Amino acid sequence: MTLPENFLWGGATAANQAEGGVLEGGRGLSNIDMMPCGPDRKKVAAGTMKMLEWDNDYFYPTKKAIDMYHRYMDDIKLFAEMGFKVYRMSISWSRIFPNGDDAEPNEEGLQFYEDIFEELHKYEIEPLVTIAHFDIPLNLIKSYGSWRNRRMIDFYNKYARTVLTRYKGLVKYWLTINEINILLHQPFVGGGIVFEENENHEEVKYQAAHHQLVASALATKIAHEIDPENKVGCMLAGGNNYPYTCRPEDYQESINRDREGYFFIDVQARGKYPKYALKKFERENLKINIEPVDIEILASAPVDFVSFSYYSSRTVSAHSEDYEHTTGNIFGTIKNPNLPSTEWGWQIDPLGLRNSLNQLYDRYQKPLFIVENGLGAIDVPDEHGFINDEYRIDYLRQHIQAFKDAIEIDGIELLGYTTWGCIDLIAASTGQMSKRYGFVYVDRDDDGNGSMARSKKKSFYCYKKVIETNGEDLSSNKLEIPSKIILY
Ligand code: BG6
Repeated sequence: MTLPENFLWGGATAANQAEGGVLEGGRGLSNIDMMPCGPDRKKVAAGTMKMLEWDNDYFYPTKKAIDMYHRYMDDIKLFAEMGFKVYRMSISWSRIFPNGDDAEPNEEGLQFYEDIFEELHKYEIEPLVTIAHFDIPLNLIKSYGSWRNRRMIDFYNKYARTVLTRYKGLVKYWLTINEINILLHQPFVGGGIVFEENENHEEVKYQAAHHQLVASALATKIAHEIDPENKVGCMLAGGNNYPYTCRPEDYQESINRDREGYFFIDVQARGKYPKYALKKFERENLKINIEPVDIEILASAPVDFVSFSYYSSRTVSAHSEDYEHTTGNIFGTIKNPNLPSTEWGWQIDPLGLRNSLNQLYDRYQKPLFIVENGLGAIDVPDEHGFINDEYRIDYLRQHIQAFKDAIEIDGIELLGYTTWGCIDLIAASTGQMSKRYGFVYVDRDDDGNGSMARSKKKSFYCYKKVIETNGEDLSSNKLEIPSKIILY
């Protein structure tokens, strides 16, 4: 058998894309609640269009999301039926500290997550908890300018200490900040940054990044102090950059682009700034305030494992403008003519996952965790309401085979695999519901209409078998699918 007995199979969601109930349970509003559907979404995400209040002319899909706030018990039961060993989820920061700078946490929010963790343990599912997944209390943006302000380190660490203390013994696996490198590409989503006129965008982004890195190191330290059993990971929006040609300048471009993401993980895993980043600050005259104590903090608390999301590789060139481009997770890429694409233009590259695992393992020599991977696709129910998502099964099969090869042939160390959106949820990039990743179908459309009823897709039965056989049987034959669709 390729995979260890204790391999952590499971699925992943995030509070903002699943919970809904944004005004319930004493929750405050956050940056991500302000992300509208439609063409302006990109500008808001980039921090170039200010939207810090709801506007009646727009539709905000995460207000209700998939109503997991009220339905988590049934959803967890379905995850348990698939045999999940782990469930990755996030805590909504503004459910715990509605304004971010409150003196006391919101007990109702704390109890809500405690109930979820208890429910997971009932089924022997280990929670893997992201402390901040695109989620910043709105008041911290309005009153302090969000992560560009050094005070954010204290607000974040108070929040982290609160949840780490409260959930001691219930949660062992933690991720400090989701896809930390998104800050460079979607500053409002990743950092709550709305740019002021005449600001140096690069300087603001890297200053905010520095504050996040210090806050993340402190949270890692606190987690270890509170419970030495805690395992803390960083989280990268992964996928390597291929040079479009073998021209040396294209290869150099691929190194530089990989470093944009590695920059964060280099600090979080090695405990210090890489030289190439310090040189960049100097060369571009970016004045980043790094206090001497920060250097000590970063060095004192490297992460225990490196986690990442993987949807596809990217392709770059020193002559980027000469080529056709396509979309990808967080940011676009040159279209790689050797790869197929999803309906959203994201390119499918299972071998790229194996390559990424090898790159990360060579670079950090720490256990890895694939905490997001999956296919966003349009699912059309058949006449009985069943989703026969063979395409999703095929995607998973190829990616699972790729990480098995990385373990068996290359010898990398992998803690687990949580597929993204194990239940259909709101897409982060577009706000659509029709971009579905789940094994569980949710009856809701892009405009928020639908019963929210859950049903099992073909991939549900397939993933159950994959887990049952610890990744040995990846076929979709002989699945025990009942003839009648059951709604949950
Ligand atoms: C990652 C995020 O960027 O990719 C998730 O961590 C997101 O929140 C996922 O949902 C897939 O992207 P999308 O845009 O298809 O939802």
